Amino acid sequence: MTDTLRKVFIKTYGCQMNAYDSARMADTLAGEGFETTENADLADLILLNTCHIREKAADKVYSDIGRLRRLKNERASVGNPLLIGVAGCVAQAEGTEMMRRAPAIDFLVGPQNYHHLPQLLAQAKAGKRPVDVDFAVDDKFSALPSPSPKAIAARGPAAFLTVQEGCDKFCSFCVVPYTRGAEMSRPVSRIIAEAQRLASAGVREITLLGQNVNAYHGAGADGRPASLGRLLFALARQVPQIARLRYTTSHPRDMHDELYEAHRDLPQLMPYLHLPVQSGSDRMLHAMNRGHTRGDYLRLIERMRQVRPDIAFSSDIIVGHPGESEADFDDTLSLVEEVGYAACYSFKYSERPGTPAAAHDDQITEAIKSERLARLQERLDAHASAFTASLVGMILPVLLERQDQRTNRLIGRSPFLIPVNVDAPADLLGHIVAVHIRKAAPYHLSGDVAANATDILSPASHAMAQ
Ligand code: SAH
Ligand code: SF4
Ligand code: F3S
Repeated sequence: MTDTLRKVFIKTYGCQMNAYDSARMADTLAGEGFETTENADLADLILLNTCHIREKAADKVYSDIGRLRRLKNERASVGNPLLIGVAGCVAQAEGTEMMRRAPAIDFLVGPQNYHHLPQLLAQAKAGKRPVDVDFAVDDKFSALPSPSPKAIAARGPAAFLTVQEGCDKFCSFCVVPYTRGAEMSRPVSRIIAEAQRLASAGVREITLLGQNVNAYHGAGADGRPASLGRLLFALARQVPQIARLRYTTSHPRDMHDELYEAHRDLPQLMPYLHLPVQSGSDRMLHAMNRGHTRGDYLRLIERMRQVRPDIAFSSDIIVGHPGESEADFDDTLSLVEEVGYAACYSFKYSERPGTPAAAHDDQITEAIKSERLARLQERLDAHASAFTASLVGMILPVLLERQDQRTNRLIGRSPFLIPVNVDAPADLLGHIVAVHIRKAAPYHLSGDVAANATDILSPASHAMAQ
């Protein structure tokens, strides 16, 4: 380490898109002489990559900045200055208002502008407090540097790759179309090149990311828009070292034929689909501007099960959207019973300024929202427990990702994304091994390496044995 090497601490809030963006920002800052640290006290730069999706997420950012202000003052008093930058969706949504409210912030950068970080940093050091939240016209992805093989390896054998950004759906409750802007897709060739770089640095599993990933329509080799299904086929063919593919988050409106074909034909494509429904009531789905009915959704689930019988589903559900009656909520409960989710995120509706739902005068009280959420979560936990319990006794291929520092056991992920604790030697990290599942908790499994099984090289490893 040299004296000139500076340190950045990046805190990531929110979704996987933010996790991907944080890694890209770290790569950009590496080019500016910054290495990442896990310890905020050692940092010269603290970057908060924020989330605006619910009120609590945004509040958390402000309380963190309050604490950082004290650290910044202490550091200034000993002549060791600390810079604070805010990135992500709160920066995008609040802009200069955020700068006014939190004077400790040195610069703001919105999600479309991360390739401007070096200039922003220079301006911030000069005391200028720049705000860069206009939707950039230049292409962020081509301008962001590629990570080094060492940086890729340090992030483990499962990686994210953003293929699509933004959203044109405008659900009544959601800020994403305002914070991430209009839908855009990266060309297939760039995605393949990034996947190849990841694969040659040891990555075995890639999750393709997008706020509306199955609305993907990037330019294919022939120049015509390619669907997500076609992109998956191209990746499977052109990057065969990748043993596992996933994609998230999908919208029920964009489930096209090629996606079912991909699930039917590609053993690399893991049998797990996050397909948020938000509500089981047609009246609420309409009020939410989701553009699909309960029946449409259940038909998608059925069709997917026909092409991939072992597929597991997860979802997002909101309770207490303005106007939600007890009967609407009952429809959500009955949908949960019909689908039988392996996992599901559930949220109380949170009023977001500027969204259409915030202007409704039939808001639901906090007490009713809490009561409905508790009832819903009880059922979701029961389904999650039933799902994991059904896996006990099976042999599942598990990608071993990291070691638990406390117990020394390895932690991996099953095809169904559920984490698995495995008693195995550390040299198996990064490998996909056959694991005999011995125990299950609602969102968690544990087991041991099945006899005679070391690395499962064949992507056809989803075939499960009893
Ligand atoms: N693009 C994805 C995910 C968007 S954000 C999709 O279309 O499903 C992740 C989840 O946060 C959403 O699915 C929704 O369930 C929840 N969410 C978004 N806005 C919310 C709000 N105002 N209040 C409560 N939950 C919200
Ligand atoms: Fe938000 Fe709806 Fe777009 Fe998902 S589809 S990001 S919930 S507006
Ligand atoms: Fe949050 Fe922005 Fe993601 S609001 S959920 S960080 S797109």
